[in-house]
Formats: sequence, C-alpha cells, structure tokens
Amino acid sequence: MTGADSGWSEKTSGADVSKLSKLAKFPVGVSLAYGNEAFSYTNSPAQQAVIKTHFSQLTAGNIMKMSYLHPAPDTYNFTQADDFLKFARDNGKTLHAHTLIWHSDYQVPAFMKNYQGDKAAWLAILKTHVQTIATHFSGKVASLDVVNEAINDGGGYRNSLFYQKTGADYIEQAVINARAVDQKADLYYNDYNIEADAAKLRTLTGMLDGFKARSVPVTGVGFQMHIYMDYPSVSTISAAFKQAVERKLKVKITELDIPVNNPFSPPYQAGDIQRELTPALALAQKKRYCEVVKAYRDTVPANLRGGVTVWGVSDPSSWLISDLFKNAHADWPLLFDGAYRQKPALRGVADGLSGKPCI
Ligand code: XIL
Repeated sequence: MTGADSGWSEKTSGADVSKLSKLAKFPVGVSLAYGNEAFSYTNSPAQQAVIKTHFSQLTAGNIMKMSYLHPAPDTYNFTQADDFLKFARDNGKTLHAHTLIWHSDYQVPAFMKNYQGDKAAWLAILKTHVQTIATHFSGKVASLDVVNEAINDGGGYRNSLFYQKTGADYIEQAVINARAVDQKADLYYNDYNIEADAAKLRTLTGMLDGFKARSVPVTGVGFQMHIYMDYPSVSTISAAFKQAVERKLKVKITELDIPVNNPFSPPYQAGDIQRELTPALALAQKKRYCEVVKAYRDTVPANLRGGVTVWGVSDPSSWLISDLFKNAHADWPLLFDGAYRQKPALRGVADGLSGKPCI
C-alpha cells in the first residue's frame, strides 16, 4: 500500500487538526521541494493548501544548498530561492535557510572540489561564500543553518573537504562571518544523530564550549531528528536537548521524520518489514510523534525554542524512501498521506504541541 491509498481520511483517522501552527508560540515548519523537483509544492495546489493551513515556517529541501546558490566562483544564483522566499512572504510564513556549508558530495560546488589553495585561501573563499549568501538573505530569513553535519557518527570531526583544508576552523569562522553581515537571524549548527549518539554529542558539546570560550556567536543547535519509532528513547532525546539548554543555546528540531521501519533494527534485518501502515502502526506513530514534541516542550524553555520542522509534507515525498530504504519499499514517516490527508501522526504532533497526554 502506498501513502496515497492508505485509506486515512481526516474524519476517520481522528486527526482532525484545523491549524497545527496555531497550537505553538514557536515556529512549526516544513521542508518543501521546489520547481522541477519531485513532489514540488509549486505544481500542487493540494500541497499548498496544507502548507498554508498548518505551517508557520518553511525550509527549502534543496534549493538553498551550496551548489544551487553558488555554482561557480563568481556566480551566485538566487532566482529560485528568491521565488521561494516570495512564496513564504506572500503566505505569512517565516523562512529557515538551509544550509550555508555542508560536506555532502553532490551539493558542494564543483569549483570548490577542484580548488587548490592553502588554509588561508580556503577560509577566504568560504568567507566570501558565507557572506555573499548571508548578506543576500539578511532581513529576509528568520534563521540559518550555518554549518550542517560537521561531526562524525561515533565522535570527532567529519573528515570533509572543508575539514581537510582548514581543520575545524571553518565551522566557527562561518558563524562569525555570517553574524558580521546579519545581526538578527538566529544562527544554527545543525546535525543528525546528536540526540542519539553519545560520542557525537560529546564532540558537539566540546565544540560549543569552545565557541563559548572564544565568543563565537552561535544562537543554537539544530537537531535534525531523523529518528525511529524505537530509537532513541525519549529520555535520551531530552538529555541531548538539555546539553544545549544548559549552554543557553536555542534548540530547533530542523528535519523531523519518523519512518515506521528501522533498517538498523534486528527485526527488520531478520525480514520483519512493515509493508502496510496498519491502523495500529499509525496510532503507534501518532504516540511517538507526540512524545517527541512533548519532550521538546518539556525540556526546552520557551525563550530557547527555535521551533519544530518536519522534513517533508506527504509520505511518498519523503527523502527516506530513496535514501534510507533505497526505494525497496514504501514507508510512512510524515504527517500527511499521498493525497494530503491528515494522518494520526498529525494529531500526535498537535497533542504534543498542546501539552496533552500522548495516547
Ligand atoms: C535531503 C533532501 O531531502 C533530498 O531531496 C536530497 O536528495 C538529499 O538531501 N539531512 C539534511 C538535508 O541536512 O539537507 C537532507 O536533505 C536530508 C538529511
């Protein structure tokens, strides 16, 4: 069964949420595909209706990444991003910019991959990159992911192109350089598994302590939160949020999704794959979404809540289906089905935002 024919209807699912973002004082966001990308909002009035109704903040799924905005040394292309910004503004949504620096191979501009230069030269081209983009968006975006995924699973810095050229310096230089041209936007360090992997979290907190000692003006930590039904535990997640809160840093859930299958878990590896979003599974997912959002509300004080963003609108559009599951089967990680009908998961988020019990 695919998301589109999963049979949920807004009445029978018990979701019945009229306006999700109204339930929170902080941004409730979603990432979107643009233009010619699959499942783009630009071609879908039905998706636009959901976005307009339920979310207060938007993130571009891809079009504000490095290679899109800065394809050649002196070429910046803001056409798509500006159109995206206009959609956000016209509809009264704020925008979270993702992301100024990211190692991901196919999203690093080719000219950077081929660039030969010493550390100073590398820091200089990254400074120009960061400041040109952050200047362009200054006053137009509420927040930015300045650096994405600079830490390894298992701890230590990721041996990315940027790390190879500058050591860890590129990370804090990016924050300093972005702040120099945008005094208002919240500046985030963003990563995945920091809510799950103790060693990765230790590298993060070490980095944040270094930032503090050197007055590097980071505003908060973006927890991507590509998590599972069974992992990590809510208490592990809360403890990770606390590490940021104790350092008086904002916590933003930037890319939340919860697939029904966990390919790293033994039942799945033994062939126990959920191939259908049964009512029982959908209700378990509702509870899990609720508990995660509730943990956020309970752990992060109001002044440090950067918001909660889900990574995509409808189940069949999720990046996990191609990336994690290699298109081997469907999964149902998001809040709406393929026909943009509300899933019980949406009610779970609504209950979590309202502080209701998670059932
Ligand atoms: C993903 C997009 O959703 C996909 O469309 C693209 O093919 C790959 O990137 N962590 C991030 C996001 O920070 O930028 C990634 O987005 C998902 C994982």
